[in-house]
Amino acid sequence: MKTNFTTKTTQNEKLVSWVEKMANMCQPDEIHWCDGSKEENDALCALLVKKGTFIKLNEKKKPNSYLARSNPRDVARVEARTFICSEREIDAGPTNNWANPKEMKEKLTSLFTGSMRGRTMYVIPFSMGPLGSHISKIGVEITDSPYVVVNMAIMARTGQKVLDILGNGEFIPCMHSVGMPLVDGKEDVAWPCDPDNTYITHFPETREIWSFGSGYGGNALLGKKCLALRIATAQARDEGWLAEHMLIAGIESPEGEKTYIAAAFPSACGKTNLAMLIPPAHFKGWKVWTVGDDIAWIKPGKDGRLHAINPEAGFFGVAPGTSEKTNYNAVQACRANTIFTNVALTDDGDVWWEGLTDEKPAHLIDWKGNDWTPASETPAAHPNSRFTAPARQCPTIDPDWENPEGVPVSAFIFGGRLAHNTPLVYQSFSWSHGVYLAATMGSEKTAAAEGAGGIRRDPFAMLPFCGYNMADYWSHWLEMKRLVPYAPKIFRVNWFRKDDEGHFMWPGYGDNMRVIKWIVDRVHNRANAVEGPVGLMPTYEDIDLTGLNMSKEDFNALMSINTVEGQKDCDDVKNYFRPFVEQQKLPAEFVNELKLLSLRFERSDEEWRPL
Ligand code: OXD
Ligand code: MN
Repeated sequence: MKTNFTTKTTQNEKLVSWVEKMANMCQPDEIHWCDGSKEENDALCALLVKKGTFIKLNEKKKPNSYLARSNPRDVARVEARTFICSEREIDAGPTNNWANPKEMKEKLTSLFTGSMRGRTMYVIPFSMGPLGSHISKIGVEITDSPYVVVNMAIMARTGQKVLDILGNGEFIPCMHSVGMPLVDGKEDVAWPCDPDNTYITHFPETREIWSFGSGYGGNALLGKKCLALRIATAQARDEGWLAEHMLIAGIESPEGEKTYIAAAFPSACGKTNLAMLIPPAHFKGWKVWTVGDDIAWIKPGKDGRLHAINPEAGFFGVAPGTSEKTNYNAVQACRANTIFTNVALTDDGDVWWEGLTDEKPAHLIDWKGNDWTPASETPAAHPNSRFTAPARQCPTIDPDWENPEGVPVSAFIFGGRLAHNTPLVYQSFSWSHGVYLAATMGSEKTAAAEGAGGIRRDPFAMLPFCGYNMADYWSHWLEMKRLVPYAPKIFRVNWFRKDDEGHFMWPGYGDNMRVIKWIVDRVHNRANAVEGPVGLMPTYEDIDLTGLNMSKEDFNALMSINTVEGQKDCDDVKNYFRPFVEQQKLPAEFVNELKLLSLRFERSDEEWRPL
């Protein structure tokens, strides 16, 4: 076996022997320890161009940037193939796919045996979180995909500097193979994968990740959803902190007061937009700073507050819908040094996706490599096409985004996508009520996919990302209050309410700043709120609506609650809780919160509004 083993500079025996063991199993032609240097990155990008995986973009339009097109069967996270392999099924809980760890290991061992023949095995040491922060964690990903190496180099801190910090310490082993050995004269393809044998597996007790068969996004960049969420949630439970699917942003007032918020929304609810929000024109002197757009690790600080870091170093953002108008800062973040995956290619070597410009280009090459014109019936970019861009390139990146101590969080915000009966914003009465609000959040089921009616719950936006029993996770959240005397205030928001004609009742985007300002003012005890059946809410006078042309009547409609409908939702929540009740895991607090909510509906007017 050829190897550049001599260039490895670690004395970590556990790491060296694990790499040897994995190499013996996967049988690669070469082993490459990634040093994280620019030279290494340039050489890998050149290799990817040669292999046909990468197309180099026009250097003038997108310096040092590339386009990759995946296999059309490997375009997104595959939740049906994602497993939590805890010793006991109950510890994975009713919301996860569970598999017996011993049986899964046997299956994986047979899949990985010889899986890297004809390929190079890359060893990527990476830090999730600023190098050396006490909140950070170190992982090592073994992969046979150079595409993964160059994406990981943007999404995490990688290479020799991580080994130096690791020393003889603990790391999380992350095994990855695209699952296409080059044997029996098999020619390589631009996007190797094995969609029929994809497994994304997590072993929360032994803190291991094994992923086979997919080269895409969260299935393959194992620091992100697999480590920073699924494995980290289990670590956070044991160590007394929180690993969350949240953006982190700093809200600066004209007086220079900085208030940090952390917010959870299900995928495709505008998280990146909120993290990089540009306030409306009359909010003079207000500024939103970006710490992270997807994941937050949050730990109690010595000051009795919660402090958050963004464990990632890049954005893996959804491209379609991103434009200078909807998210100027995201467009700026991917102006250079960016990898685009499954977007369209313009005739002058730039990229394009639906929503980037009002006018569609006359001709493109679509994400499958075919000619495309505005008359084409299929989208030019895949709906889940992505940009992988360095976070430091975001114009609003917070000066403290790499502060090893994290930033102090003053408010948690939770939101879903609900067209009916959910007000624009409300604050929880208490911590346990806030945890209940986050646990029951969700989005309306689309009639086409799910059969009409009802809410698809996505508790804490963590449904696909919690590495253990969801009810134990709720209990952990309830417990956290006892560790932090100055816990953040908790809010629910809904940007997506519609009127009877189906029009959005709230403009969203930059105007969400109006809601954020009320939240910030509540945090600092300088904004009014009235008590409604679902929480504490602003009246028309409490929220800055300057320039919106919104009447009191419109605002009250946006904040109104039909309590009969609300009561039906209580029944729906009862059903949703049932599997956790059957496992005797539902927190007692939730039983009481549900009872109180139902009682408040019963004792309110049928059409409640904040007057
Ligand atoms: C993501 C997701 O890719 O949440 O960030 O799906
Ligand atoms: Mn996400």
